[in-house]
Amino acid sequence: QALQGHVSIILLGATGDLAKKYLWQGLFQLYLDEAGKGYSFSFHGAALTPPQQGQELMAKALESLSCPKDMAPGHCGKLKEQFLQLSQYRQLKTDEHYQTLSKDIEAQVQREGLREAGRIFYFSVPPFAYADIARSINSSCRPGPGAWLRVVLEKPFGHDHRSAQQLATELGSFFQEEEMYRVDHYLGKQAVAQILPFRDQNRKALDGLWNRHHVERVEIIMKETVDAGGRTSFYEEYGVIRDVLQNHLTEILTLVAMELPHNTSSSAAVLEHKLQALRVIQGLQKGNAVLGQYRAYSGQVRQELQKPEGFLSLTPTFAGVLVHMDNLRWEGVPFILMSGKALDERVGYVRILFKNQAYCVQSESHWASEQSRCLPRQIIFYIGHGELDHPAILVSRNLFRPSLPAQGWKEVEDQPGLRLFGRPLSDFYAYSPVRERDAYSILLPRILHCQKESFITTENLLASWVFWTPLLDSVAHEVPRLYPGGTENGHLLDFEFNGGHLSFSQEQP
Ligand code: BG6
Repeated sequence: QALQGHVSIILLGATGDLAKKYLWQGLFQLYLDEAGKGYSFSFHGAALTPPQQGQELMAKALESLSCPKDMAPGHCGKLKEQFLQLSQYRQLKTDEHYQTLSKDIEAQVQREGLREAGRIFYFSVPPFAYADIARSINSSCRPGPGAWLRVVLEKPFGHDHRSAQQLATELGSFFQEEEMYRVDHYLGKQAVAQILPFRDQNRKALDGLWNRHHVERVEIIMKETVDAGGRTSFYEEYGVIRDVLQNHLTEILTLVAMELPHNTSSSAAVLEHKLQALRVIQGLQKGNAVLGQYRAYSGQVRQELQKPEGFLSLTPTFAGVLVHMDNLRWEGVPFILMSGKALDERVGYVRILFKNQAYCVQSESHWASEQSRCLPRQIIFYIGHGELDHPAILVSRNLFRPSLPAQGWKEVEDQPGLRLFGRPLSDFYAYSPVRERDAYSILLPRILHCQKESFITTENLLASWVFWTPLLDSVAHEVPRLYPGGTENGHLLDFEFNGGHLSFSQEQP
């Protein structure tokens, strides 16, 4: 295949947690997938740490690279070695460091007789460091004419609408919109990445169903068992709404609620339709939310942040939020977004529940018949972690038989005894990916191939803060309901909605 050129990937924060846990592995996977398909690569791990110490830390971060399960160990070893040879550490602290990096890339490209395709700078650093790095890249490390620049940014993208706007303006003074890739790693989760392709593939079947006449409610859920211990300095400032609902769950919401463009492979069309969906979300106020906090949280904050004895935090670690869309398609349909720490289970999914439009007076044994209209009819994009420990797409058999969403997905074998949402697995047409891949190994190639629809534009980001900020302001001084944390939670956090408001369905224990 003709060589499209050389790509340099600069990982800023190369020795940090995210890099260690996901990014190096994602880059290795990118190398496995893409090398030899037209690109050649070099990987530059960068941090503020001086070269020798940085090199050692980076070597540690690279120790646990793994190959796909079906790759022979010998082949895997060879590829790892090649990847390591292409990866080097460098200190990036001053403008001179950035200039030297730029010169080194140019020299390498020339020496090897290549053409420079582009440079990707991955900011795996805290946002307060963004401006200085952005300035240095812009002034000292842009590639020459004909080659592109892409910068990849990780959340948090602000704390509210005003701060998000400020950060966006600052970044916008150094980079063009098309150069920026804001990551929401949930967009790289396999089940989430399939929402649009699935809707597209099943357009005909879904056409009449995907609306207020047929959908009873949509649940977008991300429950975690871990607590915020060890991260309270971050968590105290953000809380669950900013940490998960404003970004991960909102992205899922737009993928479900947006109008489907004619051409789902057009990034511009997808982003525009997502933006339209964000713009019709009704304003959120206190009454739209129920907030909780696990009992041990304030103690953890006191300990980790050296707060005085009686300090009580108001930061929610659990939130259920009721969202409505102001358009004809979704008028009156509740979208329930829920996430929390220290809950009874770890699970993530979006579940579209359809109305039955039938009076169901039969006993459960009657429901077992496939023809019954009284079986719950639902479509579930199962992100994973729960009863089924892999991503899946599930469609009730009494709804319709879907087309497989994309290559690389297969039917799930029945697991007798397993119940999902109260139904046996055999109630569903169920599909799962042939090969599980983590979110970053899905998203990194999309940066290379300029698939901007999997990232967050400035406009979309700000449109989401427009409706989250009033809710955050209105609950800033609310005392969240305490919950025990862990498996003891039982139903204590169940909530109900009526009259457009949410409330917990049980008294505070
Ligand atoms: C992150 C949040 O964005 O997502 C964390 O900051 C959360 O608080 C994490 O635990 C969950 O991601 P995943 O991929 O583990 O489900």
